[in-house]
Amino acid sequence: MKNFKLNNGIEIPAIGFGTWQIEEGENAYNAVKTAIEKGYTHIDTAAVYGNEVSVGKAIKDSGVAREDLFVTTKLWNDMRGEENAKKAFEESITKLGLEYVDLYLLHWPANATQFPENWKEINAASWKALEELQAEGKIKAIGVSNFMVKHLEALLETAKVIPAVNQIEFHPGYTQEEVVELCKANNILVQAWSPLGSGRILQNETVKAIAANHEVSVGQVCIQFAIQQGVLPLPKSENPINIENNLNTNFELSSEEIEQLTTLKENGFSGLVPDEVAF
Ligand SMILES: NC(=O)c1ccc[n+]([C@@H]2O[C@H](COP(=O)([O-])OP(=O)(O)OC[C@H]3O[C@@H](n4cnc5c(N)ncnc54)[C@H](OP(=O)(O)O)[C@@H]3O)[C@@H](O)[C@H]2O)c1
Repeated sequence: MKNFKLNNGIEIPAIGFGTWQIEEGENAYNAVKTAIEKGYTHIDTAAVYGNEVSVGKAIKDSGVAREDLFVTTKLWNDMRGEENAKKAFEESITKLGLEYVDLYLLHWPANATQFPENWKEINAASWKALEELQAEGKIKAIGVSNFMVKHLEALLETAKVIPAVNQIEFHPGYTQEEVVELCKANNILVQAWSPLGSGRILQNETVKAIAANHEVSVGQVCIQFAIQQGVLPLPKSENPINIENNLNTNFELSSEEIEQLTTLKENGFSGLVPDEVAF
């Protein structure tokens, strides 16, 4: 699989396997085991998904060497701040059964709606913990998720380490140009969560027509759309056929097709606005 390169030189496989809403236990274990068997080497989980134990077990049982896999997990919002973030990280690697993670993300910024007085300070304190954990060798790369322009700009004012990644909602019909531009300008890799709009854009006629043109699935179009824009997609599936299908992006979208997908009117948006969410 093709890799992207992070701003600290680390290589990251260009498609990651998403595990949100895959239930802890047999479901998460089987999905991750299948994904690795089909060729994924990059797995995306989070403390809040509640499936780190099974994800870790599938990784261990996969027979693939640890250094050949790229594993991401994320700090949940109830553990923000320097001390709590370190505690939460230890819990995550214990559940995963790993010595280190490749990428650790602040899952959502502390926002101005919930923390009007001190959202910047809270994010800076959580970030400091990640910087220290990285310096100790427990994390290869650190990043953020759902950081909009204001959150990123504020973090960059005090950060010693520039985030390697910003993981945001990104799919045809919701491409968040402003924050993507800021990330590109700062050499921060954008990862696409819900690259298929969590399934909400699978019936879109424009995307369907482009898929038919290439004789591929809508999912493949969405995944290739992200990759061709330098954005790393994280498709989720529990269906072995879809799991395999989503890895196969051996085709090129034309510049006209990219234009059509980029200018699609808003479609499949989750409705989650990072500066307003109440969690
Ligand atoms: N950082 C964040 O705040 C955040 C938020 C949301 C998501 N994420 C990450 O991003 C990952 C992906 O997002 P997502 O889980 O919302 O959704 P997604 O990958 O956009 O879409 C998944 C949905 O599409 C279906 N699907 C997958 N491949 C398909 C295909 N080839 N053809 C037809 N249907 C297909 C899946 O069903 P089947 O399972 O039946 O195939 C599932 O219903 C998550 O798992 C998580 O790792 C992060």
